[in-house]
Amino acid sequence: MAKVAVTDYFSEKKQTALCTAVYIACLMNRDSAKEQYFTKALMKWHDVENIRSLPWKNEQDPYKIWLSEIILQQTRSEQGKPYYLKFTEAYPTIKDLAAAPDDEVFRLWQGLGYYNRCRNMLHTARYINNELSGTFPNTYEEILSLKGIGPYTAAAIASFAYGLQYAVVDGNVYRVLSRYFGIELPIDSTEGKKLFAELANALLHKNDSAGYNQAIMDLGATVCTPSNPNCTQCPVEKYCLAAGDKDMIAMLPVKSKKIKVNKRYFHYILFFSGNEVWVKQRASKDIWQGLHEFYLIEADTALTKQELVNKEELNGLIPSVKNIEYEGFLSQRLTHRIIESHFFKCQLPERNKQQLKDGKWVKINELNKFAYPKTIVSFLEKKSYF
Ligand code: ADE
Repeated sequence: MAKVAVTDYFSEKKQTALCTAVYIACLMNRDSAKEQYFTKALMKWHDVENIRSLPWKNEQDPYKIWLSEIILQQTRSEQGKPYYLKFTEAYPTIKDLAAAPDDEVFRLWQGLGYYNRCRNMLHTARYINNELSGTFPNTYEEILSLKGIGPYTAAAIASFAYGLQYAVVDGNVYRVLSRYFGIELPIDSTEGKKLFAELANALLHKNDSAGYNQAIMDLGATVCTPSNPNCTQCPVEKYCLAAGDKDMIAMLPVKSKKIKVNKRYFHYILFFSGNEVWVKQRASKDIWQGLHEFYLIEADTALTKQELVNKEELNGLIPSVKNIEYEGFLSQRLTHRIIESHFFKCQLPERNKQQLKDGKWVKINELNKFAYPKTIVSFLEKKSYF
């Protein structure tokens, strides 16, 4: 039978009241035998059957664990693995990372996206190096207080590095627990967050928090996957409420808020002069802060060559529409937006060069010295500039 989530039919006020009621009902219906079975079966699976091999597994150095967890935020393990290897090779200690120039670290990060992660990571490395004598903190509260570290990452570091009793709660955990216990509380509601956090900590294996956290992450990544989970291979299938129920699997975990996605239209003009291109670093408090880009005109819709040439801000820089060539477009999806980037190129007469402010002229064969947003990297690769 198809299940219906509380978010499907009710107003926001009613949803809140319902969430509270469901939260209380879930607490009252907790089944300790079912909870104990979950932990025992999961740990056994991890010891005997879980053969997933990843370079950060069983690592105990808090610096390397932290590095892996920052890289793996919003990134699949397979994609994150080469970055983890590159970073640990280039910066074997937190001191090495703290001493590295920003540009070099951004270059190494290139392709992972969500550059705030990289910025915060550098900030925290320098903070630990300068203010904490290079020693990674060893309590959950201190770890949580570091920039760029939320409850999930703090729990991962605290358990993997120090064996502290903190359960990780991330997308994998929401999925596994909501299906096993049949919880329909939205994971983005206050009550949902509270319930899942309480449940996760109750299920934690107290003598092996690291093993338990690794096991549940691996189960979510390899067996209890978002679509087509492998229920017959699951160690907790016996008491899982969603096992084999396609509708329930598809519905859980429930999210109440739909992410509103806005579209932005970027128009990049690659201004060439001889063998040089004009490049600028993004400085404003917007996406991609600190990365490099070409001359940018943002508009509410995609512009034609003529509309671009007519733009007042260009101040007659492009003599006529004949001087500009369209090079195609690429789209990049971020969490709350889609960036549609249209690329143009234009040869600039020598006399106009100084009209471009706040950027630099870079030799074409030295473009790869800078870090760029993913869209620009894809464009440069496609057009063989890299
Ligand atoms: N995702 C985030 N952290 C992870 C870990 N330690 N192992 C596997 N997947 C992960």
